[in-house]
Amino acid sequence: MVDLNVDFLGVEFKTPILLSSDSPILNADHIKMAVEAGFGGGITKTISHKKFNDPKPRFQGVTSKNRLIGMHTLGNISTYDPESWKKDFKTLRDLKKTHGTPIISSITGGLEMDDWAKLAREVEAEGSDIIELNVSCSHNPYGKSGQIIGQDQKLTGEVSKVAAEVVDVPTIIKLTPNVTDIVSISKEAIKGGSKGVSAFATVLALSGVDIATGNPLPDVWGKSAFGSYSGPSVRPIGLKMTAEIAMEGIDVSGFGGIESWENAIEYMMAGAGTVQVGEACMWHGFDVVKDWNEKILNFMKEYGYSSLSELKGMTLQKITDLEKLDYINNVYPEVDTERCIDCRRCVTACKDGVTDSMKNPKLNDVDYDKCVGCALCKVVCPQGCISMIINKDIK
Ligand SMILES: Cc1cc2nc3c(=O)[nH]c(=O)nc-3n(C[C@H](O)[C@H](O)[C@H](O)COP(=O)(O)O)c2cc1C
Ligand code: SF4
Ligand code: SF4
Repeated sequence: MVDLNVDFLGVEFKTPILLSSDSPILNADHIKMAVEAGFGGGITKTISHKKFNDPKPRFQGVTSKNRLIGMHTLGNISTYDPESWKKDFKTLRDLKKTHGTPIISSITGGLEMDDWAKLAREVEAEGSDIIELNVSCSHNPYGKSGQIIGQDQKLTGEVSKVAAEVVDVPTIIKLTPNVTDIVSISKEAIKGGSKGVSAFATVLALSGVDIATGNPLPDVWGKSAFGSYSGPSVRPIGLKMTAEIAMEGIDVSGFGGIESWENAIEYMMAGAGTVQVGEACMWHGFDVVKDWNEKILNFMKEYGYSSLSELKGMTLQKITDLEKLDYINNVYPEVDTERCIDCRRCVTACKDGVTDSMKNPKLNDVDYDKCVGCALCKVVCPQGCISMIINKDIK
């Protein structure tokens, strides 16, 4: 029988698709709604002992050709304290009874180590199955310390140790991508006692400038700040970080920019044991995942997988150093002339971007003497009708 069950850090999930600790998780009712839409669970909005004031407005969309591809936010973290979550934890315990949904709590204590320990004990007492340690938030009630911890190997290890020591349930560290070496930081988190990592939080960014005023965006009454950027355009960075952590044998919940069931599979093939979805829910609602489980099941049946563990990490062994790739000559584009609409984008791209070798796509006419086999023509083709093939008869 094909199913989506996964064991992540010793905890059973009915599906690996989780709602990340994000603004759609205003309270436990939202986690319930998400689970009813198809999520395997949700990580609580980060719980802290301190309160934080979000600027208004705080979001700025980033678009490309009118499509929303990312969002910059200046307010990232909750003002929840454990007291206001008491009733929410009751809802989560009920959800565990009715739907078998594990409880994952996100906490932050900034640079105050005692706070991490206290919070970890508190959320464990409320029934948490996993505790996510948020050392990565750039907008944190403890000031910049959220991010400062995640950018510092030693501090990350310390937080991991302080929290893991006082609880029996597994802890995971939520990492920031704003570092040069995420692997060393992951290893330190594991050395400290965490059982895995979540990768990643948000990329520090400046989303734009209003050219009429020169104001940075998001424009908070004339000023702005570097802030948290996420959404589909960060996915390649999330995939890379997930893969490099998984290559070290570290359990990882992978995410950043997931907006489709295919993206979820990509992350699992790159080594993720569970995946998380944030912005896609903010933009499209929880129903965005409604058919993902079914689609993933169909995919598994079609490709002959009976469990997700069979595809987990399968891509890792195919990622190698640049110099170890197969350097094959005689690689050329081949146009499916039936599907070509003669828009000539490939011609322009090749002419101005590389070697002026794509002559007449409608006739699959390529100057093979000049063509360097780069695939730029394939990248820009709106029809997807160019393939790169090895043709030993040419040259
Ligand atoms: C508005 C907003 C609020 C967020 N709040 C939190 C938070 O409280 N705790 C946390 O760990 N991450 C928080 N995040 C980060 C997300 O959980 C997630 O790591 C990030 O958005 C990347 O995933 P995505 O590209 O699917 O959105 C927040 C992100 C956004 C945009
Ligand atoms: S593969 Fe590169 S060089 Fe060859 S036709 Fe396409 S864009 Fe031009
Ligand atoms: S970009 Fe694609 S569709 Fe357009 S002319 Fe080239 S091959 Fe044809």
